[in-house]
Amino acid sequence: MNPKIIDGKSIAQTLCDDVKQATTAFIAESGIVPRLDVIIVGEDPASRVYVANKQKRAESIGFKGGITRLPVTTSQADLLAAIREKNADPAVHGILVQLPLPAHIDEHLVIQTIAAHKDVDGFHFDNVARLATGTGGGYAPCTPAGCMHLLRTVEPKLDGAHAVVVGRSNIVGKPMGALLLAANCTVTMAHSRTKDLADMCRSADVLVAAVGRPEMLPGDWVKKDAIVIDVGINRTSEGRLVGDVHFDSAIANARAITPVPGGVGPMTIAFLMANTLDAAQKATATQAAA
Ligand code: GUN
Repeated sequence: MNPKIIDGKSIAQTLCDDVKQATTAFIAESGIVPRLDVIIVGEDPASRVYVANKQKRAESIGFKGGITRLPVTTSQADLLAAIREKNADPAVHGILVQLPLPAHIDEHLVIQTIAAHKDVDGFHFDNVARLATGTGGGYAPCTPAGCMHLLRTVEPKLDGAHAVVVGRSNIVGKPMGALLLAANCTVTMAHSRTKDLADMCRSADVLVAAVGRPEMLPGDWVKKDAIVIDVGINRTSEGRLVGDVHFDSAIANARAITPVPGGVGPMTIAFLMANTLDAAQKATATQAAA
């Protein structure tokens, strides 16, 4: 019997240990050190913490790379130039531009400028299309990939389950829907305009909350024995960190549920590390074949 609270921190640690071991072997074999370059524009405090955590983890695994911190006034042209420089550098295997970007910069253009094979975030059209069509060979976005991994620790057989995803962002909601569909779930994409959201959630065997609103989903929206994946990380006015689901009431109904913090959050970084190693391995294999 799985524990009811899904321990994302320890599951992510196991994944990172595996990536570290595989990285050590890859470096020994190829002499190449995987490199992840992260770009952040502006001073958003949450983004700065996320980026620092990614960098710390990358270092602990043995990757090269670092953070390029650009001022909030950086022009779009300068940001695109910085990306193109990294695209052209064969020593760089993964590029991540932290989102959101300042309003004067076109986020879509920035993402499409990153070379698809270095887009370890999985946001480039090429990677999105590979995921949507089931073509494979690309990168799935790290947060939904992490959610799928957590789900499978509880229930490896997701065939036919009704999965309800609340939230339709490009970073989480939409790719989450694609991954659940690929796992043979019957997927409902719900959002702020969904009618009877409570009843919709109550029909879910798998409920994924990715709306970014503190404790918006109360426990009585959770079907008995549903698996609940809470992607939200919200700070309340009293300074508490909470998810999109009201954890204390939801846990009574759920078969398993992710906590906040310590659920989905650490998984995002673990999959970023796995994607970066994969990018380095693929780049090296491509160079060897050329
Ligand atoms: N902002 C919030 N989540 C993410 C993410 O997974 N990747 C990037 N690049 N920015 C984010």
